[in-house]
Parts: sequence; structure tokens; C-alpha cells
Amino acid sequence: MKKGYISVIPAAGLGTRFLPASKAVPKEMFPIVDVPTIELIAREAIASGSKKIIIVISSSKEAILCHHFTYDRSYEEYLIAKGHQDLADRLNQIAKEVEVTFVLQKEQKGLGDAIYACRNVIKDQPFGVLLGDDLMTYEGHKPVLKQLFDAFEKTHSSILGVQEVEASQVSKYGVIDIEEKETNRLFSLKGMVEKPKLEEAPSRYAALGRYVLTPAIFKALEKTPKGKGGEIQLTDALMLLNAVEPVYAYAFEGKRYDIGDKVGYVEAIIDFALKRDDTKEAIKKFLKDKDLR
Ligand code: G1P
Repeated sequence: MKKGYISVIPAAGLGTRFLPASKAVPKEMFPIVDVPTIELIAREAIASGSKKIIIVISSSKEAILCHHFTYDRSYEEYLIAKGHQDLADRLNQIAKEVEVTFVLQKEQKGLGDAIYACRNVIKDQPFGVLLGDDLMTYEGHKPVLKQLFDAFEKTHSSILGVQEVEASQVSKYGVIDIEEKETNRLFSLKGMVEKPKLEEAPSRYAALGRYVLTPAIFKALEKTPKGKGGEIQLTDALMLLNAVEPVYAYAFEGKRYDIGDKVGYVEAIIDFALKRDDTKEAIKKFLKDKDLR
């Protein structure tokens, strides 16, 4: 990849599934052990080559999210003076690594509207999207968004990251209808349905929160009427886009956690804790000592 693509992280949602915790603290700041989920998502964008990230926020979340991505020099100096160089390094790590722009979504009108809010910053370049509820691990593989950027280098068309999900899960996602397989992992898209009933689902392949979009998506979003849940759905805009230019799906490699769901969130914390040197032995012992039958 010659240049880094811009990545967008929509973070303006209310987080109602995590009330009361999400009343005062943006759910994007909830930690996986000690790292806020939005920092982990941003790290995937950086590892995928993005040097600039746009975070779409609502006004109530602005202060806290901006603070997290701001270089805090006095706190850093304080930690160093106390002999905590390691903590000082972690404190400002994300602020050092990436340029962040905040874009305000004025009303919570859905994912499509959040993406549309970025049009004047992105202008006429392709860009990545990472949804904060979808946390990825990808040991042994490229970062998930990088897999999509690499596929984009070949197709120059919008691409959705997909994986097969269980039948019981299809109604939670945008589900794709496949035209034909270009390769083992790349499919050209025939259609897509937002959160279909199982009987109406065109496949088991669900869009799991990673996209590369061409700027033509903004024109499609302009014409997208309110869809499921009365919101402007990215899925509907992708279908309008597919009528004027090809859209692809890529079956990415890696494990995805639904951290917008309580169980998925706890699973992610346990798995991350089991991989970290500073926590794994203690958590392994804790789980082993539990009589879980
Ligand atoms: C959004 C998208 C959906 C996608 C999902 C992935 O839904 O609208 O197409 O499958 O993210 O997590 P949400 O869960 O935000 O309602």
C-alpha cells in the first residue's frame, strides 16, 4: 500500500444495551482489561496502515473521547517523576501514533448518517470503516481491515468484511446475497438485507463491522431513505451503490467479538486477559479453580 487510507470509527451511538454503565461513560471507553475498546479499534486501523482516523461522535461524548486521544504532557511528566515510565508510555501511546479528527453527528439517525457526516473531511478518496462493537483478534493473519485494504487494491470497489454466522444470529446483522465467488474469500455482491428474519436471510454471511468504501457511497447515502428501525442504514446505501458500481464482500480471517453484547464483551475480556503476560496465569488459575459444571 503506497499511502495510508483514512479510517472512520463511528462512536455516536447511545449504547443503550449497556445502561446504566453507558449513561455517563461512552461505551467506547469501557475497558478490555485496561485498554478502552476504542483504542483497540484504533490500533487495528493503525496496524492496517491508516495514519489518520475520523471518530464520529455525539456532543455528549465529545469531551471524554477527545481527552483520551489528546497528548497529556503534565500527567506524563508526573508519572515519569514518580518512576512510572511504563505507565507514562501507555498514557499517550495512541495520541502519539495517529492523527485524529472528530466529526459531530448532530442527530442519532443511524450508521449511514454517521458515515455521511464525514463527507467533507474524506472528500473523494476511498476509506476504511471500523465499527466499535466489533472487536477483532487476528493472530497469524493480517489485521482485518488490512485484509480488506489489500483486496481493495485489486478490485478498487467497496468491500464489506464478512464471516459466516450461526442461523440463530443472522437477524442481528446485515446479511449478504452472493453473486459469485471471485476467489475463495472474495465474493461479488448481489444483494444485502439488514437484520433479516432467518427465513428471509439470503445466506449466513454477515457483515461484521469492517468496510472499505469508495467516495461514491456519499452520493448513495444522500438518496438513502430511512430503513430498518427508522434509521439511515449503511446496508441500504450499499445496495444503491451496487446498482451503479460493483460491491464486494471479503470473508476475512480472524476472530470477532460482539462487544456491543454483554456476553461478547465479557468473553473478550477473558480472552484478552488469558493472552496477556501480566494477567494470564492468575486468570487461568481463577477459571480452573471454579467449579463450572
Ligand atoms: C451494524 C450494521 C449491520 C452489521 C453490524 C455489525 O448494525 O447495520 O449491517 O452487520 O453493524 O456489527 P448494528 O449492530 O450497529 O445495529
